[in-house]
Amino acid sequence: MEKTAKDYVVFPLDFASIEEAKSYVRLLDGHVGMFKIGLELFIDQGPLVVAMIRKLSTAKIFLDLKLHDISATVKRAMGRVADLGVDLITVHCACARMLEMAVEGGQGKTGVLGVTLLTDNDAKTVEAGGFKEQFVNDPNELVLVRAGMAHAAGCAGVVCSGREVAQVKKAFGRDFLAVTPGIRPVWSLLENDDQKRVTTPAQAVQQGSDLIVIGRPIRDAADPVLAARKVIQEIEAVIGR
Ligand code: C5P
Repeated sequence: MEKTAKDYVVFPLDFASIEEAKSYVRLLDGHVGMFKIGLELFIDQGPLVVAMIRKLSTAKIFLDLKLHDISATVKRAMGRVADLGVDLITVHCACARMLEMAVEGGQGKTGVLGVTLLTDNDAKTVEAGGFKEQFVNDPNELVLVRAGMAHAAGCAGVVCSGREVAQVKKAFGRDFLAVTPGIRPVWSLLENDDQKRVTTPAQAVQQGSDLIVIGRPIRDAADPVLAARKVIQEIEAVIGR
């Protein structure tokens, strides 16, 4: 089936209770392509959240657990993830072997997205983390090295900022997914926003982003469905359908 503008939109279920999450899944079913489950809800409710989404929606499911452990443990955990029937999961790009084992454990049922460098890092934290001077001077280079690890390990793609998408796509090809958070439509610039290096949905998709994670601009809108539709229209204007 041809990808439509809706399929680009990932809505994070950043809620403390399953009831709230459920109400947004009901509301946004048919208006977003994927729901993302984060640590807060998964730690509280576990696989029940996955079952709830599958029951109420046909959207895809992205489990954002950002795994990082010894390869054997990650492989075993990925076996359980694959059985849950989620489409995507995140694993830190910390070690090639761990990424390979994550992909193997996913058995082709769950795609692995590498987390390159968390966006709350900067030159200072990269230096404090013991990285080479070249990466301290240019953390972007570290993003590309790590995306390369994910690509070589057979991952489905990476999570990166909208400003890195073009480089990632150029280096690893169009089939390697680039998933971008930090999305702010021009109509939604939030006061005291904690997302600093933001891009609009149109900019991200123009740069080559395959999936955009967009939470608060939809969640906190007076009419979340209308907000999602505005995002979709913005993407339609770029992709032409
Ligand atoms: O659009 P909003 O800022 O509300 O989206 C926040 C979501 O995106 C959260 O689920 C957060 O975990 C995720 N995220 C992020 N920045 C990253 C990676 C993921 O905000 N670099």
